[in-house]
Amino acid sequence: MDLFSTILGAALLLCGVIATGLLVLKYKSRKKMLLPTFKSVLVTGCDRGFGFMLAKRLDEEGFKVFAGCLDATGEGAKELQMDTSPKLELIQLDVTKEKEIEEAKAKIIDSLAGYMLWAVVNNAGVACHAEFEWIPKRSFQHTIDVNILAVVNVTRAFLPLVRAAKGRIVNMASMAGRTATPGFTAYSASKFAVIGFSESLRREMAHFGVKVITVEPAIYKYVQLSVRDFQIDYSVTALSSTTNFLGQCEEFWAQAEPGIKRDYGEPYFLATQEAKSRLLQWTSPALDEVVDCYMHAVASVQPHSRYVPPWKLQLLNDVMNMLWNSVQDRILAAVMNIRAKPDMLRPIQNGRTGRRRSHAT
Ligand SMILES: *[C@@H]1O[C@H](CO)[C@@H](O)[C@H](O)[C@H]1NC(C)=O
Repeated sequence: MDLFSTILGAALLLCGVIATGLLVLKYKSRKKMLLPTFKSVLVTGCDRGFGFMLAKRLDEEGFKVFAGCLDATGEGAKELQMDTSPKLELIQLDVTKEKEIEEAKAKIIDSLAGYMLWAVVNNAGVACHAEFEWIPKRSFQHTIDVNILAVVNVTRAFLPLVRAAKGRIVNMASMAGRTATPGFTAYSASKFAVIGFSESLRREMAHFGVKVITVEPAIYKYVQLSVRDFQIDYSVTALSSTTNFLGQCEEFWAQAEPGIKRDYGEPYFLATQEAKSRLLQWTSPALDEVVDCYMHAVASVQPHSRYVPPWKLQLLNDVMNMLWNSVQDRILAAVMNIRAKPDMLRPIQNGRTGRRRSHAT
């Protein structure tokens, strides 16, 4: 071995050691958590689900929690108050009502008493899963209102406080905000918007030392957290409960325009419902994974800017998003595997095929 290769080898070895050291340091600092002293957190959508779970966890860890609830006198809110320390404050906050955002802000400023508003977690969201042509206009609008415009409005209202604290804005997005599966037009449109909004804001807020973070879960199995979850109310998430997931679509289908219904036909509708139930069977019941991501985003010294629970799906998803659209289309069609064609595309009669007219013109 000549001198040159010896030096090169030694240099490479040194680089390797340094890189490993840096990685270990980074890993260690990622695990370091902040002290909750004088830190308060506003979480929206605490009536149930992830918001409910996160409010409890933050309270346990010693943060002062402002738990925004769609109905601060409802069952979920009452249960949350019972299960947590007296430090937790329920806040009446329908995020689509500007007046309630203003009132919440006044109330929070009033009760800060030396605390800073360290983080705002825009958790509240609604689901909307059906073929585009079956979704009533008001449901599409409601999805956009709650999932993105309300996030913008809440962020606008509280950002000055968060900037003063050099704190964090944590936004609930979804894997549907990077990959748009069929039957998710309204939902995906709202979640792509959340991600676009958050990424741009993150780069603006870097100047202020404010971190803007997205949590982008795959679908999780709906796990009943308590008795009150029996009430079905599509205005409150429970995003993936079987009844919501399929029931909402059934409601949409029942109300769809007659011409549209003839074009798609009952067999196709049933096939989409069946495809969705199949999808739900694959989902994970480990809701804590999502709450862990939220906790890390709020309370770790060095949060990530993007969390995708479960992380294994992040790899798959990111790789898929690098492929051509035509390949992605095929993969998603195969994953959905809808086993019927719309009526409009079926043979006209007795095996004769031809072009059918739409009944919905
Ligand atoms: C958001 O705020 C704007 C005005 O600032 C208001 O017109 C709009 O209704 C609000 N949207 C939602 C969904 O809260």
